[in-house]
Amino acid sequence: MEVVILADAKEIGAVAADAVGALLVRQPDAVLGLATGSSPLMIYDELVLRCVAGLVSFSRARGFTLDEYVGLSADHPERYHNVIDRVFVSRVDFAPGAVQGPDGLASDVPAACAAYEDAIHRAGGVDLQILGIGTDGHIAFNEPGSSLASRTRIKTLTRQTRIDNARFFGGDVDAVPTHCLTQGLATIMEARHVVLVATGSHKAEAVHHLVEGPVSAMWPATVLQHHPHVTVLLDDAAAHRLQLAGYYRETYRAKPDWQGI
Ligand code: GLP
Repeated sequence: MEVVILADAKEIGAVAADAVGALLVRQPDAVLGLATGSSPLMIYDELVLRCVAGLVSFSRARGFTLDEYVGLSADHPERYHNVIDRVFVSRVDFAPGAVQGPDGLASDVPAACAAYEDAIHRAGGVDLQILGIGTDGHIAFNEPGSSLASRTRIKTLTRQTRIDNARFFGGDVDAVPTHCLTQGLATIMEARHVVLVATGSHKAEAVHHLVEGPVSAMWPATVLQHHPHVTVLLDDAAAHRLQLAGYYRETYRAKPDWQGI
């Protein structure tokens, strides 16, 4: 796990966008894993700027989102499919239909989850997965207690996650759906490169467990310690509980510019 502590969100966005850009140069038809939430917004904004400037193109790329609320209507602004379209997909040059997500309106939920796993598999798997992390250590919507071997399935959201996400629903926790469909931890572990972003002191505890804690279903993101290529991009506030912060900074400073993340 490579831990990179950067000055601010802008720098995090640039470093992550460099990795996405380099991937798309090597492999224009790459498969991207796209997270919602506020953490990756700086990455998407930077990629939009570079796309508009002609420095990167998504015209042959495909994308898969991580998760979806169950039961939000197709036109609900907080439906993750609409969120990712608004904050990123519609602002760059993806082909129509190139980005898909789990179907939160499916009548046969197990079949929809299996179909989603199958679609990722048929696309050749995710080359680069962008991830955020919840304050309780969830990734996608794999809440504490999720099986480390889980696949795409329905989950009940914790009260904490619903409180955290109420800000997107006018501050009304009861307006936040109680269930979601989410890629499992084993699904996410199959991505070839995982880039996890966390900013702000409210993420420091989850980041501490993710990077330096024992692997445990109680802090689901810790499963990433078993992944061979994970990059964790942090600001100072999110990194402030890391015991080896000095070492991570020194290691990144000594890295040759050409190497990237
Ligand atoms: C949400 C999403 C996650 C996201 C996390 C953190 O519940 N399902 O994919 O990473 O919570 O969100 P944010 O980046 O807004 O803090």
